[in-house]
Amino acid sequence: MPSAVAYVSFGMEFDLAGIHADRAYAVLASLVTPRPIAWVTSLGADGVVNAAPFSFFNVLGVHPPAVGICPGDRPDGTPKDTALNVRCQHEFVVNLVDEATAEAMNRTSAALPHGVSELPGAGLTTRPSSVVRTPRLAEAPVSMECVEWGTLEIGANRLIIGLVKRVHVRDELVDEKTLRIRSERFRVVGRMASPDWYCRTMDRFEMKRPG
Ligand SMILES: Cc1cc2nc3c(=O)[nH]c(=O)nc-3n(C[C@H](O)[C@H](O)[C@H](O)COP(=O)(O)O)c2cc1C
Repeated sequence: MPSAVAYVSFGMEFDLAGIHADRAYAVLASLVTPRPIAWVTSLGADGVVNAAPFSFFNVLGVHPPAVGICPGDRPDGTPKDTALNVRCQHEFVVNLVDEATAEAMNRTSAALPHGVSELPGAGLTTRPSSVVRTPRLAEAPVSMECVEWGTLEIGANRLIIGLVKRVHVRDELVDEKTLRIRSERFRVVGRMASPDWYCRTMDRFEMKRPG
């Protein structure tokens, strides 16, 4: 009789710092999924509002409330407009993306020349923020006003850490009596496998913690 565990596969091993370096993006971005998407607005020195999505993004902590986004440098070594703008203005807004805004978000990922806003081409408009000069996206269900805490340059990665100073949430997503977020109404989308896959997030389940 064969044993119950007749064959154990140890799988493929990638050496992302060595011979598989050219696979690093495809492997990591396809495996670390789903990822939240920060749809970042930032302000150029010329006052032009820039918008771009970043899925190397997460909340980092709550005391103080902090988020991180990570634009990679362009192949020629220059920073993306978002990183450039944050370096000059020390602030940005993280807007979140739901099913209704997913296509507009994707349009804002186009590489436009510095000083040209992605907003008109994507049919987007803005609303003033409360404590930063950078406006938020009127179409986004959620926007977080952030002040730069610091930026870590890790090779070509620029990990921008922001302290969240205000959170704007569309009325229907908040129970105004309890201030609970009605997450069952929040049709947020996530980033899946590289290069072009996304997920909806309405198939959810609850699991209580032990103890
Ligand atoms: C869903 C999505 C997520 C993205 N995430 C990142 C990311 O985490 N880091 C990055 O450097 N580029 C990312 N990109 C590509 C940037 O959005 C793109 O380079 C954009 O042109 C940068 O704009 P900017 O130069 O105005 O900052 C992503 C694109 C999409 C569509």
